[in-house]
Amino acid sequence: MTFSKATSASVGYSKSVENRLKIQYLQQLTPKVASPPGSDVVKGLTDNPKYLSPRYFYDDRGSELFEEICELPEYYVTRTETSILQNCAEEIADITGACELIELGSGSSTKTRILLDAYHKLGYPLRYLPIDVSAGILEASARQLLVDYPTLQVHALAGTYEQALGQLQPSELPNRMIGFIGSTLGNLNPQKCDDFLSQITAALQLGEYFLLGVDLQKPQDILEAAYNDSAGVTAAFNLNVLNHLNRRFDGNFDVNKFEHWAFYNEIKHQIEMHLRSLEAQTVELRSLNLKVNFEKGETINTEISRKFDINDIQELLKNKGFVPQKVWTDDNQWFGLILSKLS
Ligand code: AVI
Repeated sequence: MTFSKATSASVGYSKSVENRLKIQYLQQLTPKVASPPGSDVVKGLTDNPKYLSPRYFYDDRGSELFEEICELPEYYVTRTETSILQNCAEEIADITGACELIELGSGSSTKTRILLDAYHKLGYPLRYLPIDVSAGILEASARQLLVDYPTLQVHALAGTYEQALGQLQPSELPNRMIGFIGSTLGNLNPQKCDDFLSQITAALQLGEYFLLGVDLQKPQDILEAAYNDSAGVTAAFNLNVLNHLNRRFDGNFDVNKFEHWAFYNEIKHQIEMHLRSLEAQTVELRSLNLKVNFEKGETINTEISRKFDINDIQELLKNKGFVPQKVWTDDNQWFGLILSKLS
């Protein structure tokens, strides 16, 4: 009896979730000559100074560590953006009305729930299009959202931002908004940032919206504490890159022979994260047929995290055809959320 009840209930439930869920695996539209896997690693580790793409942070362990970073007392970024969103989500919903929300790098969609709640509360229909390279996380979080929001429609796009932005279909609702929150824009250098904003412009129609979250310039001690937390989670996140490379490319990095180093570059207004070699050593990545020599003290740059001036970033958006509609910040002016319209 209990068994059949549970079965019919779960069938009904999952059916309604299936009806509201679409998952699309994106293809490259213009097939490029694909670079062999790891060619970016070879390029970065044979350059002077050495560098790696921040994408190597995010294996399963790295993604877990990033979730932990977001909860750290010193890492004000997530907490501050969340509190701004809580204050302005209904205003955003009132500005856009019924809307398709396209979220780049949606991950677990935690902050997005604040927006979903606001649209739901004000009665504006919302269709949610999360985009993430990690198809597993994308599907799991989409299913959970559909259970929690019984009228929501989700069209999840598994692929890169570039693929997704190049293949967006016209909105099925009166309006559309691309959301890029979490200050991930800060992890792009100025050239990549410019290219990325041009792709956003090209993906939207006139009158559509772009919601951008950016971390703002602030005193050096606060910034350096956020990337050198006392519990050592950011250090573990940084060093985990070496484990990731070992696993992926049959490498022999010894994590104990490197240390985490993060500082604020006041000229470039960016945190720089590095891994510093504690001794002269040679490391091998066998599947890449690569041997890398390190001097004692030599570094690999693993990430930049740019900190913006709220006026400069609005100027940049204007140069890309956007008209800022509203800017929200916190009492300390540590983080900014900008809603702009393509005009
Ligand atoms: C994902 N990104 C916005 C984070 C940041 O703050 O730049 C990544 C991070 N790196 C160290 N801590 C957090």
